[in-house]
Amino acid sequence: MIELKELSFARGERTIISGLTAQIAKGEAVLLTGPNGSGKTTTLQLIGGLLQPTSGQVLINGQSVAKLTIKEQARLRSIAPARRTFSLAFTVEQVLQFVPKKHRALHTYWVAEKLGLGELFDRRVTELSTGQLERVSLALALSQAAEFYLLDEPFSAQDAFYTEKILEVINELKMTKGLLVISHNQETLAKHFDREITLD
Ligand SMILES: Nc1ncnc2c1ncn2[C@@H]1O[C@H](COP(=O)(O)OP(=O)(O)O)[C@@H](O)[C@H]1O
Ligand SMILES: [Mg+2]
Repeated sequence: MIELKELSFARGERTIISGLTAQIAKGEAVLLTGPNGSGKTTTLQLIGGLLQPTSGQVLINGQSVAKLTIKEQARLRSIAPARRTFSLAFTVEQVLQFVPKKHRALHTYWVAEKLGLGELFDRRVTELSTGQLERVSLALALSQAAEFYLLDEPFSAQDAFYTEKILEVINELKMTKGLLVISHNQETLAKHFDREITLD
């Protein structure tokens, strides 16, 4: 279980998150929604331990994220950032092997096939379309064996076909994992999720 307890975050004078309390349990996929600049990515970074809250806390399985080592954090949660870029010309297949085998999720190649990456295995990540690159980035995040997956705008460059495929992957993974998925596209996506957390 991920628990956000009265979570607040400020940058200088500007309050970005104020008193956010929420939970994400295993077995559910939660949509994190809200307008541009409402603090969705910031919330993901707070949960992931990449930013420290101004007040309040984030607990994963009862442990404060702030007190976990990087390795402990990596076993608990994996983050798919929005708009990841690769500066080196790895092939798609190599990217799917970035996570060492003993820490790699068993579903890695199943996810890759679902996301249409099988046919791109030999392609270089520096030579992909935005949508293809976004799917590689998502597959990489999901290749880390973790209990919770935090996905920042995974649909942003996808067409209807791959939006559906990603939703299928999310639905399958939530059998054993918890997922928090950011999208500003609340109207069309809400019905595919168990709950939503709305920032404003
Ligand atoms: N690195 C940063 N430095 C300063 N302000 C930032 C930074 N990242 C985000 N912000 C600001 O924090 C607010 C929330 O941003 P963000 O969490 O990225 O929103 P969202 O993901 O909902 O669009 C915005 O006002 C944004 O301009
Ligand atoms: Mg964002």
